Amino acid sequence: MKVNSYTEKISVCDKQTDFFEGQYRIPQGITYNSYLISDEKLAVLDTVDASFTDEWLKGLSEALGGNSPDYLIIQHMEPDHSAGLGAFMEKYPEATIVASEMAFMMMKNFFKADFSDRRLVVKDGDELCLGSVTLRFISAPMVHWPEVIMTYDDKSKTLFSADAFGRFGCGDDIPWNDEARRYYIGIVGKYGAQVKALLKKASELEIKKICPLHGPVLSENIGRYVELYSCWADYRPEQKGVVIAYTSVYGNTKAAVGTLGKLLVEKGCEVRIYDLARCDMSEAVSDAFCKDRLVLASTTYNNSVFPFMREFLTHLSDRGFKRRAVGLIENGSWAPVAAKAMRELLSGCEEIRFIEPVVTILSSPDAKAENQIEALSEALFKLN
Ligand code: FEO
Repeated sequence: MKVNSYTEKISVCDKQTDFFEGQYRIPQGITYNSYLISDEKLAVLDTVDASFTDEWLKGLSEALGGNSPDYLIIQHMEPDHSAGLGAFMEKYPEATIVASEMAFMMMKNFFKADFSDRRLVVKDGDELCLGSVTLRFISAPMVHWPEVIMTYDDKSKTLFSADAFGRFGCGDDIPWNDEARRYYIGIVGKYGAQVKALLKKASELEIKKICPLHGPVLSENIGRYVELYSCWADYRPEQKGVVIAYTSVYGNTKAAVGTLGKLLVEKGCEVRIYDLARCDMSEAVSDAFCKDRLVLASTTYNNSVFPFMREFLTHLSDRGFKRRAVGLIENGSWAPVAAKAMRELLSGCEEIRFIEPVVTILSSPDAKAENQIEALSEALFKLN
């Protein structure tokens, strides 16, 4: 029997969640993607978030055209992809779940059921024949959780990449880089080594299409996406430019930041300024990883840094921020210590080069501070 295999994306768009994973703003929403591979056997890859299970099951049912799926491949157990598992298994009682050993352990934790009579445990390199298509499973621990497997379709040369290569935003027309980077840095930024290990495995495959669990299917210029992932996993700056992240209570630190930004722009530098109390913190963090230079400007507060700056630096440090030039601006009315505190908060980050001079503002910028700002702008410009 000759069967024409094909893959169908069954995706739902979430524009109702305010904070994805409880912390990332998603003004353009996010998709949860499931896929159906139709061959002699029918395999469904992953489910969707709990709020969209009914919509997904309806779309899946239409795609199946009255047939019953043979397999549900669970690549990733995070609930934005696995929440529909119980409803699926109830609706399709003949289906077998295919997942890693650790995923089944997590299944028991999440669903209080281990589906022991309907399971197929797979590990790195295992294969599953659907007829004309053979699927190969690729373990990808910590991209984004330890149980993750990815799936390679050797016929269409498609990599089903779980969270990897996903991005925020519902429409296919949203530019990929910024929202993919914000997603990557936020979700797996800490796990550069594991992403590199995955990319090494992927380099041995011919990949014509990438099907992630969020965002669009990627089918053109695959090398460009892989190169960006390689850059991010290496913690290399992606672009030239200066990110200035600041906190200001009465506007004086903000004024100093404005002066620095203006000087840098006049010299021809690209500058992005983030008020950490008011911006989307994940955007500021993502941009700090993107650009090659960072300036931190903080009020001295409780003999340390202002709380929003502490939060920002914690995000950077937790995600392995490294290999950057960093300038410091501190403000204090009687005992400015923010620069020292910011250095300490970055002390766990490797290959950070602090740029001189440190700008010290005593309440509001005076001539000495203005000179320091000018000198800092020149030092930053020289790295352009
Ligand atoms: Fe999209 Fe780690 O879940």
